Amino acid sequence: MLTTIEHDLSQLFGQAFEANDLSFDFGNTVRCNRPELGDFQCNGAMAAAKQGAGNPFVTAEKVVANLADNDIIKNVEVVRPGFINIFINENYLANKLAAVSSDTSFGTAEDLSETKVMIDFGGPNVAKSMHVGHLRTAIIGDSLQRIFRFKGYTVVSDAHLGDWGTQMGMLIEGLKKRQPDLPYFDKDYTGPYSEESPVTIQDLETIYPEESGLCKSDDEAAEKARQATLELQNGREGYRALWQHFVSVSIATLKRDYGELGVTFDLWKGESDADPFIPAILKELEDKNISIKDQGALIVPIVDDEGEKVMPPLILRKSDGAVMYGTTDLATLYERVYEDKADIVLYVVDGRQQQHFKQVFAAADLMGMNKTTTYEHTYFGTVNGKDGKPFKTRTGGVMKLHDLILMAKEEARKKLAESNFGVDFDDAEKEEIAHKVAIATLKFADLRNFRIKDYIFDLEKFSEFEGKTGPYLLMQVARIKSILRKAKDINAEPGELQATSDNERALTFKLLEFNAAMDKTIDKRAPHFLCEHLYNLAQEFSSFYQKQHILKEADQDKRASLLKLSAVCLNQLEMGLELLGIETLERM
Ligand code: ARG
Repeated sequence: MLTTIEHDLSQLFGQAFEANDLSFDFGNTVRCNRPELGDFQCNGAMAAAKQGAGNPFVTAEKVVANLADNDIIKNVEVVRPGFINIFINENYLANKLAAVSSDTSFGTAEDLSETKVMIDFGGPNVAKSMHVGHLRTAIIGDSLQRIFRFKGYTVVSDAHLGDWGTQMGMLIEGLKKRQPDLPYFDKDYTGPYSEESPVTIQDLETIYPEESGLCKSDDEAAEKARQATLELQNGREGYRALWQHFVSVSIATLKRDYGELGVTFDLWKGESDADPFIPAILKELEDKNISIKDQGALIVPIVDDEGEKVMPPLILRKSDGAVMYGTTDLATLYERVYEDKADIVLYVVDGRQQQHFKQVFAAADLMGMNKTTTYEHTYFGTVNGKDGKPFKTRTGGVMKLHDLILMAKEEARKKLAESNFGVDFDDAEKEEIAHKVAIATLKFADLRNFRIKDYIFDLEKFSEFEGKTGPYLLMQVARIKSILRKAKDINAEPGELQATSDNERALTFKLLEFNAAMDKTIDKRAPHFLCEHLYNLAQEFSSFYQKQHILKEADQDKRASLLKLSAVCLNQLEMGLELLGIETLERM
């Protein structure tokens, strides 16, 4: 990993503070937001004064006098009451940029392959189409898996399908009414297992809502579905065969939807895969006196150190013997900790499931899983409509993910036409552009918010080519590509960096901030820090481009330097967008 300028300076100043018998930490140096005053500043002398170090101006002068010989600083000024303003040496800056830009990870990657990070995201349910709620987990989870991988971790992502709850029993009972003669309903069915599915995804999507509606009002139907679920969980062969079919037709559709979003998973496991681990965890919980019987059910009370109940218990098994969502999650965590040997498990799941994860994690802590593994609910807020309530279709129904993508594409086509982009492109290219712009729109609009915040879905605003949007970033990328293409046409090559003018320096400083933005993103598991960096970088390029007439620059060396800066900027923008799961365009 390459160090940042802030880091190099903080070291230098920290040592100078130490030479004055003051804490190293006072050397902390930050970017100065007024370039005329300095590139960076150190305010440690004032902080030291607050802790009794005496006159800050005097301290600052002493610190500066004690700075070790270095090639970083060109000039340093002490300003009352005790600011230290720092100007950076051109050569040092050029070398730093050369080092960062020649590294494929911009100096970010480290060898962290020993650390295994499992990311649970997506979480789609069998037989239910994905809706807008599944958008956030897909977008944030996918971006995090890309970012952790890029940093050097070993990453394993898992879609963790919802394939084991009562909805499975409902589907079985619903299908039984429609196709009672299927061999799978025979109590003693043992095969053969036909490859051909008795259901399509459309069948499942009609059966499920009908049955679940029925079960709400009809106790007998609910009881049957419950019974069927239990039998499935207990291994009734015909039901297992049906269930296999339900799962495979669902996965085929889910893969299409995720494919449109450009989201992939390493594993397509589900709640059902935890089933073999359930007996072991139930035994351990019992042996360790963690679980208790309560009115026929098996539960884990969640208590604090004083034994006070802090939230409702985790229900492991209902009185009828069926296991619950919490049980499968605890068993899955068990598998991830002891079989997969994960070091970190991230659950990118809706914030409305916070209590669920608190219960599961509390039980896991009691079992001692936290001794080897860190697990976190990396939760996110709700996507709301303009009325502030969870986003719905115009008629008040659930907004399907597939329809949402179509809407975004439609809006992209409209905006592209209005802006006169791609007028001379053929239809296939226009379609490709509309698709990429639509995905960029949705992803950036989501990721630019700190994940725990709710946000309002405003497609029109998200699709603008101005402002902090996906389309704006795609446009900046296409613009730089066009500059570099034109440069090639006149045989102008990127060369050595000079970094003399203010805006060249500003752009260089920005490029060197990538590393810090990435680390913050990883630390907080929040891609919005990366979004913020990319947007600021694009804006910095924009003002650089306005002031520098790159292609018309007469001085060959200067032109080569400007082209070099543009090329590095392009690489970083494209790389950063890729980490957000956003594909760029050659031209638009
Ligand atoms: N299928 C669940 C739902 O739609 C989400 C699963 C999240 N992951 C987990 N390990 N619980 O709400």
